[in-house]
Amino acid sequence: MRALILVGGYGTRLRPLTLSRPKPLVEFANKPMLLHQIEALVETGVTEVILAVSYRAEEMETHLGEEAKKLGVRLIFSHEPEPLGTAGPLALVHDLLSSGDEPFFVLNSDIICEFPFKQLLDFHKNHGTEGTIIVTKVEEPSKYGVVVYADDGKIKSFVEKPQEFISNKINAGMYIFNPSVLKRIELKPTSIEKEVFPLMAHDGELFAMELTGFWMDVGQPKDFLKGMSMYLTSLRQKSPEKLYSGPGVVGNVLIDETAKIGKDCRIGPNVTIGPGVILSDGCCIKRSTILKSAIIKEHAWLDGCIVGWRSVVGRWVRMEGTTVLGEDVIVKDELYINGGQVLPHKSISNSVPEPQIIM
Ligand code: GDD
Ligand code: MG
Repeated sequence: MRALILVGGYGTRLRPLTLSRPKPLVEFANKPMLLHQIEALVETGVTEVILAVSYRAEEMETHLGEEAKKLGVRLIFSHEPEPLGTAGPLALVHDLLSSGDEPFFVLNSDIICEFPFKQLLDFHKNHGTEGTIIVTKVEEPSKYGVVVYADDGKIKSFVEKPQEFISNKINAGMYIFNPSVLKRIELKPTSIEKEVFPLMAHDGELFAMELTGFWMDVGQPKDFLKGMSMYLTSLRQKSPEKLYSGPGVVGNVLIDETAKIGKDCRIGPNVTIGPGVILSDGCCIKRSTILKSAIIKEHAWLDGCIVGWRSVVGRWVRMEGTTVLGEDVIVKDELYINGGQVLPHKSISNSVPEPQIIM
């Protein structure tokens, strides 16, 4: 089987991390976001994954080639001359997707959940119409695609980012289609949510399958951290042996085995520590992700932060309020940072008491 993953888009909402690498390659729980998805697809029997890229394609090829080989999956990079939106990329690989005459998966690249692809395939074959989308329930539906459907799952209407409340069931960004869907899509910038789904719903050709378990679009810092907490909770249930336990560790914590942990640290709940990270003596970290090779010095206190690759956080620093440090940032000793978004390669020598972008 085949799958297409939409990996275009500029990832602006996940800046400053996406100034250093494309969003799908940012590590979520110590693994590039995209790899979580590819692994789940491979488990379902997918052997070819098409990555629809509109920019920074080379970086993705370099980063993912090796991993794909290990997984035994063929990666096909489909380069868009201009961003084609969320439907146009399907038209660009029309011939590939229609060969073999079997259904194919389509995914947004920034979502995380338990990926029930086998269940999706079975549900889809069972109702026999053109497409199925996975839906989930959220509290704040206005920033998503909202779906109204009957008890059997048949979708009555699909409205992308509605101004008024319609329903709290939303498009989770994972689909399966029969190749016949391609007749509906032209080779030009097109939104699948605005221009294709409403028509399929009108024709009675689109079904919804409800997701069980957690779900998050992790394309912005706050949601990234929320999604990480959910993922770690699910890991606790499914594979608790992958979580770290040791002195000073509280709740669900993931630590790469090459990280170095000092004495008297307090880590957790809901923390991910990447490879090569150094946590010095006495530091305290909650609800945060520390990316590869970052250094946290003695007695630093972090809550609700993402620390970029190779950044250094000074002694007795206090950081909170969804602070995001880009790659290779230095925060000098004893500072307070609240909700700062610090661009790559900056050195900070003054406190930042109110949320702001530091360039
Ligand atoms: N190849 C390609 N080309 N991919 C693109 C392009 C493009 O021009 N534009 C966006 N994408 C990719 C993004 O990288 C992402 O994986 C996916 O398409 C969706 O784009 P987002 O920018 O993340 O959309 P969103 O989060 O506002 O809304 C979408 O996701 C929600 C669920 O998280 C919609 O599908 C909503 O309906 C949905 O509820
Ligand atoms: Mg998104």
